[in-house]
Amino acid sequence: MLTWASAQLQPARVVDPGVGSARFLVAAGRQFPDADLVGIELDPLAAILARGHLAATGLAARAIVNVGDYREATLPPIDGRTLYLGNPPYVRHHLLGQQWKRWLVSTARKHGLEASQLAGLHVHFFLATAEYARSGDVGAFITAAEWLDVNYGRLVRELLLEVLGARTIHVIEPAAMPFPGTATTAVITGFEVGARPKSIGLRRVAALDDLDSLEAEWDVRRERLEAAHRWTPLTRAAPEKREGFVELGELCRVHRGQVTGANRVWIAGLHSADLPTSVLFHSVTKARELFAAGGLLTDPASLRQVVDLPVDLDRFNREDRHRIDRFLKLAKSLGADSGFIARNRKAWWSVGLRDPAPILATYMARRPPVFVRNLAAARHINIAHGLYPREPLGEPALRALAEFLSRSTTIFQGRTYAGGLTKFEPREMERLLVPRAAELLASGLSPEVLV
Ligand SMILES: C[S@@+](CC[C@H](N)C(=O)[O-])C[C@H]1O[C@@H](n2cnc3c(N)ncnc32)[C@H](O)[C@@H]1O
Repeated sequence: MLTWASAQLQPARVVDPGVGSARFLVAAGRQFPDADLVGIELDPLAAILARGHLAATGLAARAIVNVGDYREATLPPIDGRTLYLGNPPYVRHHLLGQQWKRWLVSTARKHGLEASQLAGLHVHFFLATAEYARSGDVGAFITAAEWLDVNYGRLVRELLLEVLGARTIHVIEPAAMPFPGTATTAVITGFEVGARPKSIGLRRVAALDDLDSLEAEWDVRRERLEAAHRWTPLTRAAPEKREGFVELGELCRVHRGQVTGANRVWIAGLHSADLPTSVLFHSVTKARELFAAGGLLTDPASLRQVVDLPVDLDRFNREDRHRIDRFLKLAKSLGADSGFIARNRKAWWSVGLRDPAPILATYMARRPPVFVRNLAAARHINIAHGLYPREPLGEPALRALAEFLSRSTTIFQGRTYAGGLTKFEPREMERLLVPRAAELLASGLSPEVLV
């Protein structure tokens, strides 16, 4: 952790929250001969050990160990950057007092974030660090790994993305015994306050020796971490990671199409013939439309239309509004306002189709998915996924990407259900491997060569 930190900064001060016997702070004092050393420790006996350790190693003159709660610490402003380093305590929420749970919720709210009362003490330490740290400060903490995935860990995940500026996350497998005597997964998080890196370095290590200087194994875009409810899956390499390839999620977001809640109402037909054309959108509503497209969807007229009304209906002129009202009366009589989906929309009448996706994909069939370049600018409902490039891709790259995916994706990569039905959730589709750069796709390399 110190090797990693020294590649990031020369700190004017090192703060170790929950300093214990000061093994981290002593190592930091050796690594940074000019830094002030600050330990904060709740347990007075541990604080005496820390002071003794610092004195015995000749570091006492620039060290201070305060007895107190880290969440109430006062850290005077200094000239220069601070490194927050340590091994915050692992205490489950049952043992934390009500006043601290309230502190967690109200302090998180100041950052515009929500906190769960089930959060363990290490979550409190991340939040306190976000309170004290200034832009440019750096942190390296080793903690238990649950916050990567559990609901109460969301606060840490959001703090790391929005406030603390995560740069690297290393998950240590339980077999490596990161906390001696306890078979648990640990995670080392390196952050730089105020940084918003495009991607964050991730790695899993099976043995402590493999940690080296915390070099990440691969980079994952921050948008993927923002979208994921659990981070552990992103720390696992796709099984057949290949040189020069990245996960599709690095190039594109994958979104399932909108659920209408009542296709017989919202897919246009005779019952909607009277509606203004501005509320009708050619859409892929059946997987077979994509299977039949031969890789390129060119003719919107071959598709059915979906009725997608805006939330605000006052923008229509009287005549159009009249037609819409008539249609909505019919829709209501068919129960279109009362289903679960309709009741959970902003307005029950507004399906809210996504923008046309440059590439559309099937995701559930007894055969591998097909990926189709959507030249028809068709919308899609929930029988398809849409691939939205994170950065603009030129036409040759889009076509090569779609073709590459169609040729290389097998049913074995999705989840197979009884009867051979294979399904790809959007996050699973984002894990498919594709050639690294759009340029590679655009360079004229034929997809056959790449497969
Ligand atoms: C996991 S130990 C780490 C000790 C030391 N850094 C090490 O790695 O050996 C956590 C330390 O935090 C202290 N601690 C617990 N709650 C605290 C709090 N609210 N504020 C400050 N220190 C606390 C504990 O007494 C313990 O010494």
